[in-house]
Amino acid sequence: MSRKKINRLRERFKKGMATSFKKINSSIETDSFLYNEDIEGSIAHTEMLAKQKIISPSESTKIIRGLKKIKSEIKSNKFIFSDELEDIHLNIETRLFELIGETAGKLHTARSRNDQVVTDLKLWMKKDQISILKKIKKVKSVLVQLAKKNVKTIIPGLTHFQSAQPISAGHYFLAYYEMFKRDTVRFCEALKRIDENPLGSCALAGTQYKINRFQTSKKLGFKKPSKNSIDSVADRDFVIDFLSNASVLSVHLSRISEEIVLFSSDLINIFRLSDEVVSSSSILPQKRNPDGAELIRAKAAITFSNLNSALNLLKALPLTYSKDLQEDKQLVVNASNNLKISLDCIIDILNNLEINKKNAESYLNNSFSNATELADWLVINLNYTFRDAHSMSSKIVNYAEKKRKFLKDLNLTDYKKFDSRISKNLMNSLKIENAVNNKISYGGTSTSEVSKMIILAKKEILNEKI
Ligand code: ARG
Repeated sequence: MSRKKINRLRERFKKGMATSFKKINSSIETDSFLYNEDIEGSIAHTEMLAKQKIISPSESTKIIRGLKKIKSEIKSNKFIFSDELEDIHLNIETRLFELIGETAGKLHTARSRNDQVVTDLKLWMKKDQISILKKIKKVKSVLVQLAKKNVKTIIPGLTHFQSAQPISAGHYFLAYYEMFKRDTVRFCEALKRIDENPLGSCALAGTQYKINRFQTSKKLGFKKPSKNSIDSVADRDFVIDFLSNASVLSVHLSRISEEIVLFSSDLINIFRLSDEVVSSSSILPQKRNPDGAELIRAKAAITFSNLNSALNLLKALPLTYSKDLQEDKQLVVNASNNLKISLDCIIDILNNLEINKKNAESYLNNSFSNATELADWLVINLNYTFRDAHSMSSKIVNYAEKKRKFLKDLNLTDYKKFDSRISKNLMNSLKIENAVNNKISYGGTSTSEVSKMIILAKKEILNEKI
């Protein structure tokens, strides 16, 4: 059933809205998600107006009852949204008139849609970022579990996407744990900055009514009211904060996803993805496509674009409110949805990730990733400077390459050609396992260091107050 909705804000105009104008001006399709926060804000505002004797207790009761009814109508999909009424705020207010009559007109005393919309968005984003933080926490827990399971699993460590040095797979997963840990801190910092209540700033100048902004702040769970009414309605840097943090988080998600794509490819074949997180091909029967990881990687691009759009929306925008600001919400919601599904998906991918240890081992055995061990051995045992040891090791690598061998395959006679003092115990140092476990520097890849860091990480997760 469709009902003719009258936009009471247009009474001074002789003509209705042109279809194109109605379409471009309306945000109801993108801002109806704010209905809960809009009603929550309106209830807090109404209670405050009554407490300050700006409206009567019975008017307050009537308004609040009406607002609650509207909430249940929207929840049960009975509410009819109208683009004639532009946005969520006018849609709700107009319905309030239908439900309780002219008393509804008192709700907008000492308020404007300018402070209303920022209040709604901030309230929504506060909750939303808590749910994002919970998901990041899950990702971190899964990474620590994976690290624990794989402290002793050895995989190639790469630089320039070439084998560099062998590392503990546990150490590798903890690298991402550290990145996501900093993401947590960034979101928590942004949550502190967003925690100022704009409600009561009105259009831009504040109001002559004796409102109590501390009361609405407390009721809505804001730490304090904002201190400048102009800033309150014009500012959207909390949107930039969010999109920027979302972008950094997406960088991390995209890097691990890219590695999952590469390492699970049959060209490398060190990771094995579970059936639950791969797709098949419509023509190639052998395929196990890592579509989830690829889409996480792709969604990062969209989040960066949203950040870029928000920066451009705000760049050089004169104070205070301009309708440009209406476009912010879709950027936030879109990034948030992409982020949440990406976090859920990476959790599922990592939860079931298997490492093909044999392939990792054979890859390492057929590489020069122990060349640094040779150089270090010359420094420690034969008193070479590191530069001399580096140059001598390069020569030995060249020699081995020519013979189509790796360092472990050369015999002592081969080595003695380069320096007669080289002794048999070099061979032990060249072993892959040794190359990992001698990295006992703080934060290094040895089993002992990684195990210590796992204990610390577990404690950090346990102490997180999210
Ligand atoms: N729908 C508007 C927005 O999202 C609400 C604020 C409208 N304010 C105004 N002065 N037109 O930004």
